[in-house]
Amino acid sequence: MRIDPFGLERWFAEHEHEADIMLAESGIRSLDASRFDLDPGKLGYVIPTNGDPEFRASVGDRYDRSADEVLFTCGTQEANFLTFLSLLGDEGAVDGDGGESGVGSGTHAVVVTPTYQALHAVPDAFGDVTRVELEPPEWELDPEAVADAARDDTAVIVANNPNNPTGRYHDEAAMRAAYDVAVERDAYLLCDEVYRLLAAEPQPPVASYGAHGISTTSLTKAYGLAGLRFGWIAGPEPVVERAWRWKDYTTISPSLFGQHVAKQALGRREDRILSENRELAGDHRDRVATWVDEHDLDWLDPVGVNAFVTVPDGFADAEDFCRTVVEEASVVLAPGHLFGFPDRFRIGFGLPTEELEDGLDRVSRVIEDHTAESDSAATTGGDA
Ligand SMILES: Cc1ncc(COP(=O)(O)O)c(C=O)c1O
Repeated sequence: MRIDPFGLERWFAEHEHEADIMLAESGIRSLDASRFDLDPGKLGYVIPTNGDPEFRASVGDRYDRSADEVLFTCGTQEANFLTFLSLLGDEGAVDGDGGESGVGSGTHAVVVTPTYQALHAVPDAFGDVTRVELEPPEWELDPEAVADAARDDTAVIVANNPNNPTGRYHDEAAMRAAYDVAVERDAYLLCDEVYRLLAAEPQPPVASYGAHGISTTSLTKAYGLAGLRFGWIAGPEPVVERAWRWKDYTTISPSLFGQHVAKQALGRREDRILSENRELAGDHRDRVATWVDEHDLDWLDPVGVNAFVTVPDGFADAEDFCRTVVEEASVVLAPGHLFGFPDRFRIGFGLPTEELEDGLDRVSRVIEDHTAESDSAATTGGDA
């Protein structure tokens, strides 16, 4: 088995620690721990290890699913990883049930890209991936392209909605049409919905569509609680049950501390947290929209706090632009080649407002300096 290095994480590891401003973080700014009770009592494992049954039942209600159709995980990352293992892993080795689990045994995944690298790199390591590429400027999901890519051995169709990096929120009709393709192929539609609750009008989650729908998410992006490392899978019981068996080998149980704070964040404080965060996202989107216009760049007006913007003139490509910005202005952006689009960069605008303003000003200065340099090179005929 071979897995590609996670390009975006490596880029962040190279630059994030030293830089002044992180303008590529894909989630909303973090909430302060002081908003929550921080004492879960004795710090043991969560027992049962798939998560507090009552809390799983209340999370399951959000999907019209039962407690046994929910598995708590360490973030969406583990939720996706375990779902892929559940669907694409070696069935005999996991279940010891001779294939009685009711989960198909195909090894093929159809993945809608560009997207978060884990959503194609992991299934690519375990099985075989066909990508359905979204195209600029609208990045629209074409269910017919999904149907064309699906095969008899397709186990899962994978989407991320709203989408990272484009900020595109695929409409419900397109998602339901992709779900129908999954049903026809006796496969599952897995939707990473980690940005869903940042939308002003969130669509129903895919796990509520029916027997072939699986949703993964966490409190990281929409709630601003990445450090909890708390997420879940919601979907059909056989898939969730197999994911739990794999979890015995990854993290055993979710974080007790994460579960304790998650109960509060999803309780009576939820509306307030989400409305504060949506308001921040909306205000920042407007500020970035003005900035994009000022520099004559293109983007799709995004849902969430990620946008995929064209590289300004005067730079060879996104990597050249993002390296220049981090070196000259100490601001981290994410180059689009990490998502297969070297003519774009991803900006994440969920950070605190003053940092956003400072970051945009600094990037503006880099763009203006380089425009001035290329103008003067053009007038003097030089090659600087
Ligand atoms: C689409 C998507 N899924 C999952 C993750 C990881 O999220 P978590 O912190 O919930 O593991 C990210 C982080 O950027 C993401 O963009």
